[in-house]
Amino acid sequence: MKTTISVIKADVGSISGHLVAHPALMEACDDTLGKALEEGLLEDYYITRCGDDIDMIMTHRNGEENEEVHETAFNAFMKATERARELKLYGAGQDLLSDTFSGNIKGMGPGVAEMEFKERPSDPVIVYCCDKTEPGAFNLPLYKVFADPFNTAGLVIDPNLHDGFKFEVFDVMEHKKVILECPEETYDLLALLGSTGRYVIKRIFKKNGEIAASVSTERLNLMAGSYIGKDDPVAICRAQSGFPSAGEVTEPFAFPHLVSGWMRGSHNGPLMPTSEEEANPIRFDGPPRVIGLGFQIADAKLGLHVDLFDDPAFDLAREEATKIANYMRRHGPFEPHRLPSEEMEYTSLPGVMEKLEGRFKKMD
Ligand code: F6R
Ligand code: MG
Ligand code: MG
Repeated sequence: MKTTISVIKADVGSISGHLVAHPALMEACDDTLGKALEEGLLEDYYITRCGDDIDMIMTHRNGEENEEVHETAFNAFMKATERARELKLYGAGQDLLSDTFSGNIKGMGPGVAEMEFKERPSDPVIVYCCDKTEPGAFNLPLYKVFADPFNTAGLVIDPNLHDGFKFEVFDVMEHKKVILECPEETYDLLALLGSTGRYVIKRIFKKNGEIAASVSTERLNLMAGSYIGKDDPVAICRAQSGFPSAGEVTEPFAFPHLVSGWMRGSHNGPLMPTSEEEANPIRFDGPPRVIGLGFQIADAKLGLHVDLFDDPAFDLAREEATKIANYMRRHGPFEPHRLPSEEMEYTSLPGVMEKLEGRFKKMD
């Protein structure tokens, strides 16, 4: 029998602007998922939050894209939205594009990462949840985990990893996908992954086809036609015996790399790894955050988890991120802190151009 892990997330309202999801909303989600557990649809679940996003981590036996599981997640977010409206929270229902479920939660606003697998005798699984950034934020760390021998020692010294991995990459602009193999096609892969707003890692597989990682790649802003929030992403990675170890899977986050997002989804800033408790993106609505939860799946149950970045060994990454945040902030409205105009999600430029239209003169 196979196990499915579905991580479904949405921002449906938060306290004091787009900062922190209200506990009452997480309780509303808990009510709905609790019932689904009692009814036997879910095997287990854990609800967390990163900034203003609620992340529902669910295990079950129903496979990916299961209508009932997706509907349960949708109902949980609807119930949380009701609470958010009662409490007049900020951005109530922000990520729900419709109030009627249409068979699959994908395309309705929430982000989804799922994977189905046959449990190994022992199956460590790591879930990452971000706020104030976009799915392409995972390109660099997941490339390092599954393809960079300077990060993942196992690629060199463990015969079970030595063959490398296959990367499924989505072109989120053209709605196309491609599979590239590493190490054979490393340079082609990097040529795509460097364009983080367009090419995003969707899944990673072992060469034998076993699933290794899955990322939410919804682009809410493109789906909605106008900006209604960044697509703060989530990712699932399997670890150990044949996959990179938990330490190799978390290692890239010791480097707080620059990602798009932060204030108004329109700025570059460092991705800061924090504990669940410290996932409060407050300074200039950020800097962007990532939390990591380490589970030990057993008979489709999540069990206890380790809060992976609640480790003093990541203090330096947080300090470095704070220093980078300072440095980037000093650029104010200038690139490369502010995103290039075509990638900005808030812009006054068309209005400014209209106002100045008659005043632009031909250069000599
Ligand atoms: C970014 C984010 C925030 C908001 C900003 C303005 O993803 O959520 O930085 O963009 O607080 O929000 P509004 O336009 O709602 O006042
Ligand atoms: Mg919000
Ligand atoms: Mg958010």
